Amino acid sequence: MAPQLVVVIGATGAQGGSIVAELLKSPEKYKIRGLTRDLSKPAAKALAAQGVDMQQASLSGGRDTLIKVFAGANIIFGMTDFWSSGSGAVEVAQGIAIADASAATPTLSHFIWSALPDPVKMSQGKYLNVHHWKSKSDVMEYIKSRQPSLWKKTTTILFPNYFENCLTIPEKYLPNNISGVYILRFPHSPDTPMPNVSISDTGKVIRTVVENGKKYFESSIAFYSQSLSESEKLTALGNALNIPTQYQQITSEEFQQELIESGMTSELALDFTEQLLIFEDFGNVYAQHGFIQANDIPGVSLKTWREFIQEADLMAAMQKVSTERSGAILHSSA
Ligand SMILES: NC(=O)c1ccc[n+]([C@@H]2O[C@H](COP(=O)([O-])OP(=O)(O)OC[C@H]3O[C@@H](n4cnc5c(N)ncnc54)[C@H](OP(=O)(O)O)[C@@H]3O)[C@@H](O)[C@H]2O)c1
Repeated sequence: MAPQLVVVIGATGAQGGSIVAELLKSPEKYKIRGLTRDLSKPAAKALAAQGVDMQQASLSGGRDTLIKVFAGANIIFGMTDFWSSGSGAVEVAQGIAIADASAATPTLSHFIWSALPDPVKMSQGKYLNVHHWKSKSDVMEYIKSRQPSLWKKTTTILFPNYFENCLTIPEKYLPNNISGVYILRFPHSPDTPMPNVSISDTGKVIRTVVENGKKYFESSIAFYSQSLSESEKLTALGNALNIPTQYQQITSEEFQQELIESGMTSELALDFTEQLLIFEDFGNVYAQHGFIQANDIPGVSLKTWREFIQEADLMAAMQKVSTERSGAILHSSA
């Protein structure tokens, strides 16, 4: 059989990059086309050098631009990056353009949608400001109701908290060294479980989903390896690095204020905080009936937090944050 053409949106990012890396291992099965807004960026050039057909386009270019990028695709991985625009409306418009262009691609046999669960349903109507979840779930509802033929060949992947956030946003996800004690502050209790995964495992799951075709059509996969509280993760980190740690539960107002002081708008700080409170109030909502649990997918073995902290140099990441903080304090007092 001729190789299948897989179009990966976000090929230069965490989710898409993992898929590309996995599928590149089987050139006899897959040809890969990646999307980027900037062909000259190093990540895009590195993928092109590995044989990925990199195409320049923005998701904001709309349906007609995407139809050209998707030409001949057998499989499309669709994702949107809320944090680039910080706007739910932009994310919904981009998602609808992806869905409409996918529906207009006659060669398509499988569409995969990168999503988050509906925060209003998950919180029984309590949390109404988690825009970066809502817009992705609204796109899923749009596909179901407005593109039913596409929905019949769609698999939705619900992404959880990435372990790698500790490396990309260490100031938020790693503890702060205060006089030798590593202190982590979040607005939830030490026992609040949250779904977590190593985002580098995305490719493994997508390969299995793609290679089992129909089995996962019209389904949502809760993609996480472990349900862990931030406090449990901190204890494991302290034990692995042999450092004293302390988990501090702060109020949601204090947490939002810290986010605002770190440069987030108040709207995004509320969005970010409410998503955490969903787990505080309703437990690990990813574990609920109706979502396929990634750990139950035969042949998929996902990295644990313990394995992740053995591989990643989190001490170096914490030291870097510490140095930057002391630099900022010196700067502001100069
Ligand atoms: N971090 C977490 O814990 C977490 C958990 C669950 C869900 N998520 C969701 O994951 C999404 C981000 O995915 P990621 O982590 O893979 O992102 P990432 O590593 O930050 O990379 C963003 C990707 O999106 C592409 N992109 C952004 N805007 C684009 C546009 N207008 N047109 C075309 N491509 C565009 C970028 O491509 P170029 O820059 O090359 O153009 C890049 O490949 C967010 O929506 C977030 O809500 C994150």
